[in-house]
Amino acid sequence: MRVLGIESSCDETAASIVTDSREILSSVVLSQTEAHAPYGGVVPEIAARSHIEHIDHVIMTALAQANCQWADIDAVAATTGPGLIGGVIVGTMAGKAIASVLGKPFIAVNHLEGHALTARLTGDVSFPFLLMLMSGGHCQVLQVNGVGQYKKLGGTLDDAAGEAFDKTAKLLGLPFPGGPAVEKAARAGDPKRFAFPIPLKGRAGCDFSFSGLKTAVRIVALERKTSTGISAQNVADICASFQYTVGEILMDRLHNALQLASQTDACRTLVMAGGVAANQFLREKIKQKADEFGFTLVCPPMSLCTDNAAMIAWAGIEQLNLGKTSGLDTEPRARWPLAM
Ligand code: KG4
Ligand code: ZN
Repeated sequence: MRVLGIESSCDETAASIVTDSREILSSVVLSQTEAHAPYGGVVPEIAARSHIEHIDHVIMTALAQANCQWADIDAVAATTGPGLIGGVIVGTMAGKAIASVLGKPFIAVNHLEGHALTARLTGDVSFPFLLMLMSGGHCQVLQVNGVGQYKKLGGTLDDAAGEAFDKTAKLLGLPFPGGPAVEKAARAGDPKRFAFPIPLKGRAGCDFSFSGLKTAVRIVALERKTSTGISAQNVADICASFQYTVGEILMDRLHNALQLASQTDACRTLVMAGGVAANQFLREKIKQKADEFGFTLVCPPMSLCTDNAAMIAWAGIEQLNLGKTSGLDTEPRARWPLAM
């Protein structure tokens, strides 16, 4: 079975062909990074227009790279939410139109479920598992009990982890997206130079908060700003201290989540997904915490941690395997929580 996946919920236009035997025949990701870079963040209107302009070509490229004809496609899966609604509409309509013309099933995929199930595409991960989903728009910890079966243990009270990286980068004049830029700058910095606050430290539960950290970073950055800007060493030290503190926040919250998840005997795997999972420093910290609780940490390869359509095709296959498909009247959604 070959499934075409389509993703357009944020600033990546992506299409992919994946088989039910877990082969990724193609995965095309067209990033709009340059279009949004001057604004230091994703501009929804620019994103929507760019998706319209590029989606046809991206889908055709995915077909060609997979050596597939339209007739080889057995089903079409598209992200129908959550995300920037303009982009979500583009991908949903493209997916429905193709499914309709081919007379093949359409599967509406929750973008977050795409991230959540990626580890089952790239490795042998069985249910239940603990999922830490950290991206630019999302920051939550869930127990994944099965396809469509999510128990939310905690989420962010303010910013998402990736958003905190993006805002810190913008403040320091580093390029967008902020995560990779901050990680790179941090390598030359002293993580102990600035003692930033660790919101919610020691509190019960698995919720996250980054706003206090963001304010503290802003104050330190403004204090160090001169007529020529902030020196490279100060930028590096702020990035290193910021990243170190994000690590401390994640460790503290993850500790509680692992304790909760440990109560389920079968749950001994921690999956890290979303763009922030690409951060090597944070991966290492999280691995230490997972080891402490006897959990195995699974991180999908970097190219599948950030937004892509292979994860959408795979989430579609997981649903098809359970006999689930969606109607062509499925509506795009800006908000669509995996679990309440
Ligand atoms: O999953 P993703 O591609 O898109 C969303 O669904 O949001 O995640 C993008 C986010 C951005 O905020 C980006 O700054 C962050 O992931 N990110 C990173 C790294 N690479 C990407 N954050 C920290 N360290 C990184 N190396
Ligand atoms: Zn994402």
